[in-house]
Amino acid sequence: MTGGAGYIGSHVVRLLQQQGQDVVVIDDLSSGSQQRIGSAKLVALDLAAETATQKLVALIEAESVEAVIHLAARKQVGESVSKPEWYFEQNIGGMAHLLEAMRLTKVNKMVFSSSAATYGMPDTDFVKEDFDCKPINPYGQTKLIGEWMTANAERAWGLRAVNLRYFNVAGAGWPDLADTAKMNLVPIVFDALASGKAPAVFGTDYDTADGSCVRDYVHVLDLAEAHLTSLDYLARDDRKHSTFNVGTGVGASVLQVLNEIKRVSKIDFEVEMQPRRPGDPPYLCADVSRIKSELDWSAKRGLAEIIESAWNARSAAN
Ligand code: WQD
Repeated sequence: MTGGAGYIGSHVVRLLQQQGQDVVVIDDLSSGSQQRIGSAKLVALDLAAETATQKLVALIEAESVEAVIHLAARKQVGESVSKPEWYFEQNIGGMAHLLEAMRLTKVNKMVFSSSAATYGMPDTDFVKEDFDCKPINPYGQTKLIGEWMTANAERAWGLRAVNLRYFNVAGAGWPDLADTAKMNLVPIVFDALASGKAPAVFGTDYDTADGSCVRDYVHVLDLAEAHLTSLDYLARDDRKHSTFNVGTGVGASVLQVLNEIKRVSKIDFEVEMQPRRPGDPPYLCADVSRIKSELDWSAKRGLAEIIESAWNARSAAN
């Protein structure tokens, strides 16, 4: 598993360990940490390095790897706009090395971490997988190209792939696995509260019920479970699709998220209304019918559990 020491990856690792599966984690530890993966074997490796394919081949053979879950990637939208070449080198170059190593060792199962960022600015509320993808930043482009890469490998040498398009991932499955990166709404708000600042709402004049942007927040543990379900799916011969949305199919606005944080934290904070953030679609939620019917997966946890678990994990970390 690549990127296994990060926020999402460590949840997948823990679930696999609970199932009694052997996991080897490849991670460059740029945002992850060894503490998050317990006794799982950790190999520190930058997938984009020139020597990566060779090292991966050796590792796959030594560990008798049967399937790959590929999460390792650079994932900051703003950074991808200012350093596009590096994002392509890292996300596409790294994935090319990994797929080449899999082809050479005849490991033909991959679950790939894709993103709702592949959709760009869809003019529909609940987006389906076959919607025309027009990502609006290099990060989203690298994820869409990653999907093309798995599709090409399926045709060329029989890779079996599942591309999971994550929506807005939040929460914690265990108190020690909080999202510590502070790059998305929930951890950013927690951070503001910790330093006594008013959380910002980017845009309150959208054409939505309360004027703020609506997103599909999915609990990280539900998402982690979707990876295990995907591994089972890859063993089936009646697979119809390779790409699946992972969301709840229920939208929550920024103001609703903030209200839930008020309820859970018992802090009655002010919010700062700010102008719209460029590139934000007003409404982006998952149509979840495909993953439900094909994989029999649906999210079990809602916004309350997402915020409660995130808050508890955050408190545990302090
Ligand atoms: C959520 C909502 C903001 C901060 C991004 C990536 C996507 C995926 C998930 C990685 C938006 C609003 C935010 C704040 C706010 N990434 N907001 N105040 O932009 O939906 O998705 O993360 O795989 O590809 O684009 O997530 O958490 O940044 O924002 O009002 O201080 O919260 O405008 O409406 P986003 P986010």
